[in-house]
Amino acid sequence: MAIERTFVAIKPDGVQRGLIGEILGRFEQKGFKLIALKQLTPDRELAEKHYGVHSERPFFATLVDFITSGPVVAMVWEGDGVISSSRKLIGATKPLEADPGTIRGDLAINIGRNVIHGSDAPETAQFEIGLWFQPSEINDWTPSDQLWRVEQ
Ligand code: RTP
Ligand code: MG
Repeated sequence: MAIERTFVAIKPDGVQRGLIGEILGRFEQKGFKLIALKQLTPDRELAEKHYGVHSERPFFATLVDFITSGPVVAMVWEGDGVISSSRKLIGATKPLEADPGTIRGDLAINIGRNVIHGSDAPETAQFEIGLWFQPSEINDWTPSDQLWRVEQ
């Protein structure tokens, strides 16, 4: 499995409900490396680009309204297979169908309030990281306990 980077965002409902620490902890405990983090309220231009793939869907306007309605915690996580693994940690789009143990399975009920976003493929990860972060905001580093997480 190759070292990858993925874009993850805690949506306004996750921030408003005080779930930042819980969600960050799941990624940390898994062993992935946080290499960028910021809190911002996205403007419509950013939100419409981020969800551009859904621009023709009936829920697009309400999705953009929601994602611009308050603070979002934007992150880049790095690690072996982090793109698909993050999607597994996050769980199914519809929280009632998400497995217990996943973030959405444990912390959400409604599809329009599913607390977290994660890139779904290498191409979208690259696009979303570039959309939300300047290169200078990404800080690579070596965790001191790396030996205990990754085979050398
Ligand atoms: P996300 O992009 O937010 O990580 O979610 P996802 O990949 O699991 O799901 P996606 O198909 O990309 O949909 C993006 C977000 O749009 C909302 N949605 N609403 N009402 C509906 O039928 C519907 N379908 C999708 C969800 O909030 C979903 O997270
Ligand atoms: Mg998606």
